Amino acid sequence: MGNCCCRGQPSIYRVSSNAKSESPKDKSPSQNARMDHTKMPSNPEEVEDLRRSSATNPLIAFSFDELKIITCNFRQDYMLGGGGFGNVYKGYITEDLREGLQPITVAVKVHDGDNSYQGHREWLAEVIFLGQLSHPNLVKLIGYCCEAEHRVLIYEYMARGSVENNLFSRVLLPLPWSIRMKIAFGAAKGLAFLHEAEKPVIYRDFKTSNILLDLEYNTKLSDFGLAKDGPVGDKSHVSTRIMGTYGYAAPEYIMTGHLTPRSDVYSFGVVLLELLTGRRSLDKSKPAREQNLTDWAVPLLREKKKLLNIIDPRLDGDYPIKSVHKAAMLAYHCLNRNPKARPLMRDIVDSLEPLQIPGEVPTSEKPTLTVITDTPNGVIKEKVQT
Ligand SMILES: Nc1ncnc2c1ncn2[C@@H]1O[C@H](COP(=O)(O)OP(=O)(O)O)[C@@H](O)[C@H]1O
Ligand SMILES: [Mg+2]
Repeated sequence: MGNCCCRGQPSIYRVSSNAKSESPKDKSPSQNARMDHTKMPSNPEEVEDLRRSSATNPLIAFSFDELKIITCNFRQDYMLGGGGFGNVYKGYITEDLREGLQPITVAVKVHDGDNSYQGHREWLAEVIFLGQLSHPNLVKLIGYCCEAEHRVLIYEYMARGSVENNLFSRVLLPLPWSIRMKIAFGAAKGLAFLHEAEKPVIYRDFKTSNILLDLEYNTKLSDFGLAKDGPVGDKSHVSTRIMGTYGYAAPEYIMTGHLTPRSDVYSFGVVLLELLTGRRSLDKSKPAREQNLTDWAVPLLREKKKLLNIIDPRLDGDYPIKSVHKAAMLAYHCLNRNPKARPLMRDIVDSLEPLQIPGEVPTSEKPTLTVITDTPNGVIKEKVQT
């Protein structure tokens, strides 16, 4: 593997290798229009021109001064997340910011000031893709800022943050089975929409930190920085520089740079496995043979008796066993090493629909905080606070 740039969290990296570079001859005319290396717009007028010609969603162009007001000067305690190419802050658009704007809570993603080539490219990919695509399972982009070296994105605020923060938190209550299935269903619908769009899109960075939740645990995909136009015509794949995240990227993509919608299906399988087991796709704190989740868990998914031993112990056995088996088999098929043997996202949506448990998902309640105390014998006790 070539260059890897750490994205903030241990063991989560953006895979970057020059094994296969993106070459313009591999691209369709529409792809060239969306993201052409040589003609990549970098000043505000060019960005606005490109955006207007392709966008269906109206986006607001914010000034950097307005963003300072929205985020109270990028207050540290407004920070929602970070890593990668910058930080994400919570912010408030109030009525007096600008005439005609509705008051709304937002998330403001600030790309690092160095305005690196890759940073600008990812920022632009989000402006273009989220400017064109709109679906209940994709985060809504409200606007952007492209002023001097500043590259910022302004999204709708997702009150419960990322699936990563919820699933692996030591301070939040464990996500119940019904919510895990709701998350998988919503995320699958988001990916199916991308793959079936008029100009299909490969998301390329599907992982728990890029899946966001609102108060009712409605699921939306965010972070379209690595999204890519899918193959068109008789092409079966797109050849790209390898970009993604270790632990989630499909094996054939890492080895050859051949990117297809089935690469997203593999990553979906990894996330489904994380939802089932409560374990991270890569976890250096585990014994050596359990560090890579797929290596450890996939052989056990088809073994009905052993399967229950790998289901998240924090669920405390509170799940319908038949559904667990079905979800495990689905993950097994998504993680097939042969991309052609993996199901389509549409089939995955259909398989997850019967596993939904309506009415069991809490509505509009405030996130519940638990206080964790380590006891002398190492047992962790949680006290619920609302
Ligand atoms: N719209 C949003 N609402 C709430 N939290 C968000 C939102 N967007 C991002 N975040 C938080 O910020 C983190 C990083 O955002 P992301 O867009 O994935 O940026 P990066 O390019 O750094 O991965 C997310 O994992 C999430 O915790
Ligand atoms: Mg991300």
